[in-house]
Amino acid sequence: MTLELDVVTLFPHQFDWMRGSRPIANATGAGSLHLRVLDLRDHAPGRHRQVDDAPYGGGAGMVIRVDVVCAALEGIYAAPVADVLAERRVAVLTPVGRQLHDEVVTELAGLERLTLLCGRYEGFDQRVHDHLANDAISVGPYVLSGGEVAAMAVVDAVTRKLPGALGRDESHLEDSFSEALGGRPEYPHYTRPEEFRGWPVPPVLLSGDHGEVARWREEQSRLRAGSNL
Ligand SMILES: C[S@@+](CC[C@H](N)C(=O)[O-])C[C@H]1O[C@@H](n2cnc3c(N)ncnc32)[C@H](O)[C@@H]1O
Repeated sequence: MTLELDVVTLFPHQFDWMRGSRPIANATGAGSLHLRVLDLRDHAPGRHRQVDDAPYGGGAGMVIRVDVVCAALEGIYAAPVADVLAERRVAVLTPVGRQLHDEVVTELAGLERLTLLCGRYEGFDQRVHDHLANDAISVGPYVLSGGEVAAMAVVDAVTRKLPGALGRDESHLEDSFSEALGGRPEYPHYTRPEEFRGWPVPPVLLSGDHGEVARWREEQSRLRAGSNL
């Protein structure tokens, strides 16, 4: 199965670096991801292609227009917006959306068609949330300058869950918050040197006893779950 993932943004060039990076390139090569980055401005009506306007009621900042977003969705998918929403997940990036926890990432990775709408300025006209989208995602309870960085976090985290995205020596199955770890943080990792400035690697990891290593990792994961480390 391929995830058709479209990002709609006013700054498509910001995503250029992602295409060649793992895991995007791997998943694309493996056929599990088809990523498109589309310019919202291409669909703005009028000679000046204005995408935003001043807020009704006054106040600072500009608001992205509902007619522009509607034209973009209907233009990109060549279908009335009701049909677009019936056949794909359209998620607005917003600080007040559903928090991007691992379960949400897993849910999104299981979709066939996902569109991410990146806001800017004061965000979207509320009618975009109410009538042109069927999901709203937040990458955390803080405010970024635009939806692009948030969309990159979504694209990266979701892509890691797709077949072929990670190299053979990497696995998301035991990543922090995974089912395999009961939703807990991952255990700590160590590599050479065995000792550095008097800071030793835990001896159990050098013991060669796989059962003991597994028990230690489980215990460490549980300890981390109870702390903020
Ligand atoms: C400057 S923010 C708008 C903030 C908005 N005025 C508010 O106070 O909620 C511009 C855009 O950045 C994106 N954005 C900012 N913070 C985000 C977050 N934590 N998660 C997802 N998207 C975010 C959204 O797309 C938003 O429309």
